[in-house]
Amino acid sequence: MKFNIKRILILFILLFVIGSVAIETSVQTVSGDSLHLKDYTNEIQNLNEPYKFIKTDYFKPITHLSFTNKPVTRYYQLTLKKVKMSPDGFERPVWSVNGQHPGPLIQANKGDRLVLNVTNNFDDPATIHWHGMFQHGTNWYDGVPGQTQCPIPNDVSLVYNFSTTDQHGTYWYHSHFFAQYVDGLRGSLVVHDPDDPYLNQYDFEYLVVLSDWHHNTTGVLLPLQDAPGYSGLRPIPDSPLISGLGRYNCTAAPPGSKCKSNQPLAVYNVKKNKKYRFRIINSSADGVFVFSIDQHKLKVIEADGIYLKPTIIKKLPVAVGQRYSVIVDANQPVGNYFIRGTLDKRCTPINNATINFNSAIDWNGLGILHYEGAINKPNSKEFDDDFTPCRDLDKKHLNPIKPITKYDGHVTDFVNITITFGRDKNQRLKALINNSSFVPQMNDPTVNKITRDIDAKDLPKEQNSVIFNHNGGIAEIYVKNNNGADHPFHMHGHVFAIMYVGEKGEVHDKSKYNKRNPVVRDTLTIPGNGFVVIRFITDNPGVWAFHCHIEWHVELGMVLGIIELQDTLKKETIPEDVVALCLEHDLQKRTTRKMLNSIVINEIRSYD
Ligand code: C2O
Ligand code: CU
Repeated sequence: MKFNIKRILILFILLFVIGSVAIETSVQTVSGDSLHLKDYTNEIQNLNEPYKFIKTDYFKPITHLSFTNKPVTRYYQLTLKKVKMSPDGFERPVWSVNGQHPGPLIQANKGDRLVLNVTNNFDDPATIHWHGMFQHGTNWYDGVPGQTQCPIPNDVSLVYNFSTTDQHGTYWYHSHFFAQYVDGLRGSLVVHDPDDPYLNQYDFEYLVVLSDWHHNTTGVLLPLQDAPGYSGLRPIPDSPLISGLGRYNCTAAPPGSKCKSNQPLAVYNVKKNKKYRFRIINSSADGVFVFSIDQHKLKVIEADGIYLKPTIIKKLPVAVGQRYSVIVDANQPVGNYFIRGTLDKRCTPINNATINFNSAIDWNGLGILHYEGAINKPNSKEFDDDFTPCRDLDKKHLNPIKPITKYDGHVTDFVNITITFGRDKNQRLKALINNSSFVPQMNDPTVNKITRDIDAKDLPKEQNSVIFNHNGGIAEIYVKNNNGADHPFHMHGHVFAIMYVGEKGEVHDKSKYNKRNPVVRDTLTIPGNGFVVIRFITDNPGVWAFHCHIEWHVELGMVLGIIELQDTLKKETIPEDVVALCLEHDLQKRTTRKMLNSIVINEIRSYD
């Protein structure tokens, strides 16, 4: 260990020998969590239980946790380490979790508490965001550098500790530090529900983590996009991956690289006449994935944690950050069938200044649905499209199982935002929200500022703050997209109701809002030159990012900071070990500069 960790921090840091399991001995203070717990208590049980070092075979059915009478606390170890891997045959360093990519599945049952010891051995700072988890009362565990925490320095551990409260469904986790998740730090998170209405409609459960994949690290790609005068579009990937596996034609690989063509495909095994729930996550940097299984229709039952009225589709478009559950009936003749995880080329614009514009990518990612006993080679035919390209799955397939009516009422706060692109004085490309490009203050996150009694209206302009102070109110956001690209926007800390999605040229008409039975989720696509109107309930004190989930756009500044119920937030105390991460300013300055020298790091405030 090269550096000295100051005072308090030492108490909380677990030194971790790689590959071994650490025993937590210090007692954690658990703050917050008084909200929304209703039927669930959150007692911490078995504090001395070791953190479980988990690995997940994505091609085996999920082994369920057994349901318990009382919520339990589940301790998991997540060790971040760069390892050489060849997901599509091409070898490169991968920012892995517990040595794997995608990272292991984190499982809990509804009401359980997750205590996750994240040990950073990346040599870069890191954070983890638990995409879709509300973090009621634990805003500082949301994992967003500059908004909710300082990054975890190398060789330091942070324990994330939050309750799943009444949430259930399919989620994921990923780094929120620069574009680190695109280099590999992403994995799946599932909260099982004993009251799941579909629980007895399937026999087994599988996870499908879809992602685009680049042969260059984002340490190479981001500075290219950030170069003065860059006139290309979002970087073009090299492969689509299905649960970490893809295929690349190595004749296109640069000389000297290690590359093997014809890698094994992702194979999901099924038994004839059994039913399978597939949980599908798009964890890409950018692209829309279209998921389908030849000759097998999909019964859609969940979107972003919300139970749906079941409908049947052939193909499932999934934008970045979105999740779905579908039930697949293995009722076809015993055989091998293609699973298709196609990156939809139609949704990825390109010009010849674009980074990696001459990529040798095969956009048609393939896997295999293998029936037990099948010996034939798959030669199944793809279904025809039954969806609108580059749009979210149609709302007729997204009706909540029971209409959710709480968004129909008096709007207490209304915010109008406009998305554009522009250039700064150095001719660097920027994404602008109401004319302002977001810049995180990595060393002094917004939530730290609020708890120091800085009023949200006095936050620096480039924090892109929007303020909501009505406890239990209904907030409405109108987002106008003045740009031709579609943007999949994700809100932290909430789900939202979709009042309207407007295409290019459509007039904004309030009488068309879907107040009675809106689609409710946490990530939606805003059409190019179109608009959306969403509503959410302001009941979760915190600083919540609301941003395009195209990681290249995040890095250009397409991020808002929702400051919700600051009067309550002010009174909360951020755990000392989280605050202490901000003391590591020298280290952060060094490593952050190394990664991307265009970001302004402000002077650190001392917490002594
Ligand atoms: Cu997947 Cu800011 O989120
Ligand atoms: Cu975008």
